[in-house]
Amino acid sequence: MSYLETTAEFYKEAAKTPQVGLCCISTPPLQFPNLKIPEIMQQMNYGCGTTIHPTELRGNPKILYIGVGGGLEALQFAYFCRRKGSVIAIDPVAEMREVAKQNLQLAAKDNDWFDPEFVEILAGDAFSLPVPDASIDVIAQNCLFNIFEPQDLQRALQEVYRVLKPKGRLIMSDPIATRPIPASLQSDERLRAMCLSGAMTYDEYIYSLINAGFGQIEVRARRPYRLLDTHSFALDTPLMLESLDSVSFKVPIPSDGACVFTGKTAVYHGIDSYLNDRAGHLLQRGNPLAVCDKTAKKLAEKFPEEIIISDSTWHYNGGGCC
Ligand SMILES: C[S@@+](CC[C@H](N)C(=O)[O-])C[C@H]1O[C@@H](n2cnc3c(N)ncnc32)[C@H](O)[C@@H]1O
Repeated sequence: MSYLETTAEFYKEAAKTPQVGLCCISTPPLQFPNLKIPEIMQQMNYGCGTTIHPTELRGNPKILYIGVGGGLEALQFAYFCRRKGSVIAIDPVAEMREVAKQNLQLAAKDNDWFDPEFVEILAGDAFSLPVPDASIDVIAQNCLFNIFEPQDLQRALQEVYRVLKPKGRLIMSDPIATRPIPASLQSDERLRAMCLSGAMTYDEYIYSLINAGFGQIEVRARRPYRLLDTHSFALDTPLMLESLDSVSFKVPIPSDGACVFTGKTAVYHGIDSYLNDRAGHLLQRGNPLAVCDKTAKKLAEKFPEEIIISDSTWHYNGGGCC
């Protein structure tokens, strides 16, 4: 069996027997007014963060959700996009698709605004998405792509890029590793399927997105997710996994490199009321301007005495440069 088949087997079991916190830490799902999440969906919350960012859901977007799980996030997306077929959710595991359908029927009983026809559940996998080129506004995946080996991750990202409309968004939540995970753990297919040993480092993860063609990447959250301890994982020192929530935009990569926003700001504190860097940035004295990491570096090098760069907050929600 390949590791992808092991993964499919693993989630077949996880569909038949819901297990709280099976692969990921059990964080409470986002709640919204008049949204009632069935208990079974909460138990099948197999994600490590969230891909629900209401600000990305303006203008009735067409949504594609990869790896439906118990249907929790498909329901949350449908909460914002209440139209028939507005959310397409795919999964290669028949048992998972079936359970997700049942869970959405349950959700319809508890939520009078919800019609299960808002979500279309289709057979399909991340490497061959069952939709035409440039047809989707928002694609989301939670805690799936980290399972893929690097060359498969690149294939999945290229497939996402194919079906996204220009300016479309890829919203992801995945574990990342604070140092490279030893090969012995990476090759453990079951640990990989459990989202515990396939994680890349932050730099590798961001590089994969840029390599697939995404010109702008925004980090929405970064927090501790799971510690691989020395006893259970035969490590010399503990290894912290973090979960990273991000939004990547299908926009051209600028000639000087992609814009990656991690929550940095640039603050001008010179004698004039503002500073114009003649590269498209106007900084009012004392007013933090959100900047991408590339611009932060350039401004720090060019104006070391007049500009302070604040640290990454790992939470960026729009605005600022680029
Ligand atoms: C870790 S679970 C995450 C489920 C859901 N996103 C959530 O947050 O609860 C991974 C999901 O991806 C599905 N999956 C496994 N291999 C896949 C593939 N190659 N393409 C798409 N989905 C896949 C699994 O069946 C499972 O539903």
